[in-house]
Amino acid sequence: MRGPGLAALLGLIAFAASAASASGTYRPPPPPPGLGAVQRRDFVLGRALFEGMDVLGRSGKSCADCHGSDASAAFSRDALKRESERLVEKINHCIGDESRIQGPVLEPASEDLLALVSYLVTHYALPETVLQTLRRPAGKPAK
Ligand code: HEC
Repeated sequence: MRGPGLAALLGLIAFAASAASASGTYRPPPPPPGLGAVQRRDFVLGRALFEGMDVLGRSGKSCADCHGSDASAAFSRDALKRESERLVEKINHCIGDESRIQGPVLEPASEDLLALVSYLVTHYALPETVLQTLRRPAGKPAK
C-alpha cells in the first residue's frame, strides 16, 4: 500500500490506539468541564449505567442499545424535555420491561437513579429542576 491510503491507515491505527489504554481497555472521555464533585461522580456513574459498563438488569441490554445516538429510539433533547416531569416513571418503565432492561425498578432516591437522571440532565442540557425533585435533604426519610 502506498501514498494517501497508507497515511489514512496509519492515522486510523493511531486513532484506535488513542481510544484504548496501555492495557487495551476502553477509557471513556472525561466528563464535561464545569461540574461540581458530586455532579461529576453522578455523571460518570450514570454514563456507565446508560452505556452498559455497569449492568442494571438481566436482559444484557443497556439504555444506549436503544437510546444511544445511532439507536432505534435515540433520544432527542426536545422529547426528553417534554417528558422531564415523568422522567423517573419513564426510566423505571424501561428498566422493569421484560423486553428492555429486565431489572428491579429503582427507588427515587437511590444512587443509580440519581446518577442516570444526572447523566441525562447534563448530557441533554435538561432543566436542573428535574434533579432537584429527586434530591432529598440529608437526614429526611423517604416517604
Ligand atoms: C429495548 C429497548 C430499550 C431499552 C433497553 C431502554 N429503553 Fe427507554 N424507551 C424505549 C422505547 C421504544 C421508548 C419510547 C416508547 C415508550 O415510552 O415506551 C422509550 C422511552 C424512554 C424514555 C421516555 C423519553 C422518550 O424519548 O420517549 C426514557 C426517559 C427512557 N426510555 C429511558 C431509558 C433508560 C434510562 C434506559 C436504561 C436504564 C432505557 N430507557 C432502556 C426502548 C428502550
